[in-house]
Amino acid sequence: METNEQSVHEILLRLPALLLPWYDQNKRDLPWRKNTDPYRVWVSEIMLQQTRVEAAKDHYIRFLKELPTVQALAECPEEKLFKLWEGLGYYSRAKNLQKAAKIAAEQGFPRTADQLKKLPGIGDYTAGAIASIAFEQPSPAVDGNVIRVLSRLLGDARDQETLKSAFARLLAPVYPHERCGDFTQSLMELGATVCVPSSPLCLACPLLSVCKTKSDALPTKKIKAERRKTDVTLLLFQNQSGAALCKRTEGVLKGMYGFFMIERAMTDENVRTFLQSAGMKQFSVGAPHAHKHVFSHIEWNMRAFPVYSEENAAHLCPATDVREYRSDFSSLEYFPKEKIERELSLPSAFRWCLKLL
Ligand code: ADE
Repeated sequence: METNEQSVHEILLRLPALLLPWYDQNKRDLPWRKNTDPYRVWVSEIMLQQTRVEAAKDHYIRFLKELPTVQALAECPEEKLFKLWEGLGYYSRAKNLQKAAKIAAEQGFPRTADQLKKLPGIGDYTAGAIASIAFEQPSPAVDGNVIRVLSRLLGDARDQETLKSAFARLLAPVYPHERCGDFTQSLMELGATVCVPSSPLCLACPLLSVCKTKSDALPTKKIKAERRKTDVTLLLFQNQSGAALCKRTEGVLKGMYGFFMIERAMTDENVRTFLQSAGMKQFSVGAPHAHKHVFSHIEWNMRAFPVYSEENAAHLCPATDVREYRSDFSSLEYFPKEKIERELSLPSAFRWCLKLL
């Protein structure tokens, strides 16, 4: 071991003794910390991949009540699964969760990080988290929180990708074998509650005496790629029986329900002309409502127009410029408003439109 690596190793070796008593005293009471059943740990780690703890808590409780076992998840109809996932975003996580459940229900639950990584939706971080929390394996789980804690602790200003693999390699040998899961969670917990991105609570930190940075000077900020901004028009077709939805066939939220969408800004006049040219005869267009929805890489500037007509919008025919349509008229299906609200899963990007029905 090089001298620098040796001194890093010596600092990291002290972490269990410094962090575990702090964790015992200060850990938050979170629903996935009630026990270390692998299924429960796995569901929580997938939910927490891109969702904040506060937002995930209630979803987690509801999800486990409805689907308490890996078998129940494997057999769950997709529409029910999406309904349970509603509000968490990134529906591909739910799809992968179910794919993995089908495998685990047949073959049993893998117990090591390497085996876990073979399941859909499980990468290095999640595999380390599940293996350490559910199976007491010395498998580090290094996410943004942990990179922040350790880059400050060690005064290491290298880029995040380099740090991620370096920290995973350096942490593994210092895992306390009798408390692997708690050690993983203590690092996460410190990053989430004390060593926070800006204005960290250094005076309350159990690592203050060994920390090289003692401030938010690290990690150096990544320059984020700008989100692509897109203007979007939604047409909320409504008749006596309800409102029309269609399953999305491409792009973000593929496979999910949405309203009829055109990827272009439109005025009331544009909407009227568009509908007439598509063959609608008797209709009225209500006042539009605006809403911005932010995905990780895209931002939709949306305007939704209620369209009232007893003519079935599924029978309309697209006029000329089909490149900007993001929906097919023929895939529209009318549902009662109560059913849309209570039974179908409508992603948050569209859910705000319910108040216009
Ligand atoms: N973030 C990811 N996994 C977590 C966990 N088990 N507890 C708290 N926050 C987390």
